[in-house]
Amino acid sequence: MIEDMLRTPAAVQDSERHTAHNYHPLPVVITSAEGAWVTDVDGNRYLDCLAGYSALNFGHRHPTLIAAAHAQLDRLTLTSRAFIHDQFADFCRELAALCGKDLVLPMNTGAEAVETGIKVARKWGYQVKGVPAGQANIVVAEGNFHGRTTTIVSFSTDSDARADFGPYTPGFRVVPYGDLAALSEAIDEHTVAVLLEPIQGEQGVVVPPEGYLPGVRRLCTEREVLFIADEIQSGLGRTGATFACEQEGVVPDMYLLGKALGGGIVPVSAVAADTDVLGVLKPGQHGSTFGGNPLACAVATEVVRLLATGEFQRRSAALGERLHAGLRGLIGQGLVAVRGRGLWAGLDIDPALMSGREACERLMERGVLAKDTHGSTIRLAPPLVITEEEIDHAVAQLTAVLAG
Ligand SMILES: Cc1ncc(COP(=O)(O)O)c(C=O)c1O
Repeated sequence: MIEDMLRTPAAVQDSERHTAHNYHPLPVVITSAEGAWVTDVDGNRYLDCLAGYSALNFGHRHPTLIAAAHAQLDRLTLTSRAFIHDQFADFCRELAALCGKDLVLPMNTGAEAVETGIKVARKWGYQVKGVPAGQANIVVAEGNFHGRTTTIVSFSTDSDARADFGPYTPGFRVVPYGDLAALSEAIDEHTVAVLLEPIQGEQGVVVPPEGYLPGVRRLCTEREVLFIADEIQSGLGRTGATFACEQEGVVPDMYLLGKALGGGIVPVSAVAADTDVLGVLKPGQHGSTFGGNPLACAVATEVVRLLATGEFQRRSAALGERLHAGLRGLIGQGLVAVRGRGLWAGLDIDPALMSGREACERLMERGVLAKDTHGSTIRLAPPLVITEEEIDHAVAQLTAVLAG
């Protein structure tokens, strides 16, 4: 097809004309998708190796989730929490059971779950731990990514995410990720929580050193501090388990969940914790118009049921081995490092060869979609429905890109 018959260039230009330029997307305009594959407006197919940053763990348009959404759309979509609807109880009960916690609090986006976690931890600190009013602090890690609200970017160490958005919310202490001694030092009698990603996704799928998460758990217990695990990207099957913490034998006091919880259909996030923690909230103290709406609950309940089978966690663990074996073979052949767990990988491209962005553009030309981060790193997080052949295909395309 000759260049000026393609729909993509005009569609790319159109998509930029009336929007803020807060993203730099690859020049692909997607119009339909199924499973691990998407199709663009010119009919080209791509293997989706980003999966909406893990929001599409079950693939595009998983039939069970789509059926649940359709059925709910035909009945009831929104009530607000001023009233109770018939999809709410099942969702809360089944998600709480999946998390092994007493209670859940549904919200919409990941950032809202993080904000909720911070508010709950502060209130718990004042009401249960006995921290003097206004003195609570929360310890976080360098390289964190927890979302984009003003409070959350206040403790980001990424200057793009943080600069010029001040004044910043006080009450956070930043320590190096993976450093238990620094964490111990930072905790004082006014510390109410340690907030961490068990694997830092946005930072490039950074896995902490062996023993770190159990060490964090131990310190939090000893010092009467809540361990809040942000499993928004790492959780719900991505790493080969329901939670990345589980693979380290660690149970946090609070899980923050999002992304895949909405089945790739609706934004659904949640905080899960026991009654002594989430029970500090009383009517009027926190909420969200859309949080826990009937459509969200109907879809997310099916997500929880898919996860309860264990099938997706098993697929991620087994197929992840294959992905990582393939990627490790490229170290010294254009890759300088590979990290990750399950169907989740951060690859550092040899910066002498090309940037992460260039690598993603070349992968796109070869029909594979991935996302760069921090210069020379690319993230791979394919839907957990991907097959062995499709993984081999993705690795083969990467091999070809790195070979120039
Ligand atoms: C670990 C983590 N926490 C929080 C968020 C924020 O989620 P959202 O973009 O839905 O607000 C993200 C998004 O990438 C994330 O990866």
